[in-house]
Amino acid sequence: MVQAQTVHIRLLTRDDAAAYQAVRLRALQESPDAFTVSYSEEVDQPLTHFAAMLEIAPTFGAFVGGKLVGLIGVSIGRWLKLRHRATIIRVYVAPELRGQGIARRLLDAALAYARQQPQIEILDLEVTVGNEVARRMYAEAGFVSYGVNRRAFKIDDQYYDVEMMALDLKRDSR
Ligand SMILES: CC(C)(COP(=O)(O)OP(=O)(O)OC[C@H]1O[C@@H](n2cnc3c(N)ncnc32)[C@H](O)[C@@H]1OP(=O)(O)O)[C@@H](O)C(=O)NCCC(=O)NCCS
Repeated sequence: MVQAQTVHIRLLTRDDAAAYQAVRLRALQESPDAFTVSYSEEVDQPLTHFAAMLEIAPTFGAFVGGKLVGLIGVSIGRWLKLRHRATIIRVYVAPELRGQGIARRLLDAALAYARQQPQIEILDLEVTVGNEVARRMYAEAGFVSYGVNRRAFKIDDQYYDVEMMALDLKRDSR
């Protein structure tokens, strides 16, 4: 069991690109049904790609003993008409450290970050139907389901439904 104080959460920078690349590729390889992007689409990308991903969407990392073990990103709408919305992305914690509150701390950091951006009114996310741990965590944080995208993605011959959830930051007082 990891003591709470040994987990350090902070925003990642370009300097973290190599560590981010390793954790991100592990996430895509181990949990293909949790992410839209496939491992095969990122594994050959150069380090600059991963550095750019960190700049495109602010991403928090969880560190245990100085090692990056968890991720969460906040993708802010870039088009003028979408600037009031942001999306929670890239949520992952290394399997050996799960069940110890690390994802919840990452989510709290992402929520605090979003609340500091005055233009963000609504946070969106998508969770694969059947991913009960993630779904429950989002619901407990105040996210409300607003629909299911049936057969949202397909791996080989298997379809996956994706539940869409949103948190209204202007109404949520937490
Ligand atoms: C989903 C995921 C990020 C959760 O990470 P984690 O660090 O284990 O989560 P936490 O320990 O913070 O737990 C979050 C909540 O789920 C509960 N939980 C965690 N693991 C659980 C388990 N195996 N069974 C039941 N509940 C569990 C915790 O009790 C906690 O609830 P609480 O806040 O009421 O105590 C992790 O399982 C993961 O990386 N999965 C693969 C990728 C993925 O599914 N990403 C999400 C995409 S939407």
